[in-house]
Amino acid sequence: MEFKIALIRGDGIGPEVVNQAVRVMDRIGVRFGHTFYYTDVLMGGCATDAVGKSYPDGTAEKCRACDAVLLGAVGGPKWDGVSAEKRPEAALLAIRKDLGLYANLRPATLRPALKSASPLKAETAERGIDLMMVRELTGGIYFGKRNRYQTIDRGVECTDLMAYSEMEIERIGRRAFELARLRRKKLASVDKANVLETSRLWRSVMHRLSAEYPDVEYSDVLVDNCAMQLVRDPSQFDVVVTENMFGDILSDEASMVTGSIGLLPSASIGDGAPGLYEPIHGSAPDIAGQDKANPIATILSAAMMFRYSFHLPDEADAIENAVDAVLAEGYHTADFAGRGEPIGTAAMGDLIVGKL
Ligand code: IPM
Ligand code: MG
Repeated sequence: MEFKIALIRGDGIGPEVVNQAVRVMDRIGVRFGHTFYYTDVLMGGCATDAVGKSYPDGTAEKCRACDAVLLGAVGGPKWDGVSAEKRPEAALLAIRKDLGLYANLRPATLRPALKSASPLKAETAERGIDLMMVRELTGGIYFGKRNRYQTIDRGVECTDLMAYSEMEIERIGRRAFELARLRRKKLASVDKANVLETSRLWRSVMHRLSAEYPDVEYSDVLVDNCAMQLVRDPSQFDVVVTENMFGDILSDEASMVTGSIGLLPSASIGDGAPGLYEPIHGSAPDIAGQDKANPIATILSAAMMFRYSFHLPDEADAIENAVDAVLAEGYHTADFAGRGEPIGTAAMGDLIVGKL
């Protein structure tokens, strides 16, 4: 088959890790008889530098012309001083919104070879971690009205509005229930219904849906309790669904308990093509260009692309198995523990390609 893939290499370590994922995809193409056509799309701080906008005109159209988008990372301290709408992060939010990518899937898996890399107690890590965080990605406080105004007696005051509609909650809820059905049939919905009105609506919609999915074991978890449970015993979770900002925070926490944020991929999908696939780590400007970055999260994001956008589970399995085989031999980059000295970005790519 033939696929068009948009590559947003981005900033910092983005270009290096995308390079390795492209090598892996090309190898998959040879092995399974597919052809991939890549289109580079400029977005992020590098776009601000090149054309004065982090989200150049036509970015979404270029992506829509492809079957899927692979993104490295955007952002960095270099652009901390620029105005809010020029920030690289603004481009990320814009593309999520413009492509309608309301469902962000962030699997946190303790890979078999890495039980000792988890910062959790051995007996906790031994129980395993295999959860899927489903984060609402185009609503809530990330996209609500913002305001900044001068008060008479309290200096400057700001507001960020958190809004959710039933429609937005229902569509992410359905995704989560459907995913739970394909996994261990457990769904935890995370909210702050003891305080927030948006959470009370969230919970009532989830309860209504749960009646339609009686085969899925459903529970409500308050967000503060969820943060605690993720370090106490993450093995209790299968699918976790939550709103945008809670999901941002909890997915970093969930990733860390698996040993390294450098290992975890993500998929952002909507109701139509294209999906966007990206590692959950950032642009790590401190190690950019030094061949130190871990390419595994991006390579596993490519695996998710095969699974969710191309509906090619064998190709996805092949990539995941190749990663596990390399990890089982003790190879590691500097961000996580393994046997011997850490290896570089390209060497890790070589080893994974070698297994394919
Ligand atoms: C993420 C990131 C982004 C987010 C930032 C860079 C805007 O932290 O994808 O988790 O908050 O969504
Ligand atoms: Mg985040």
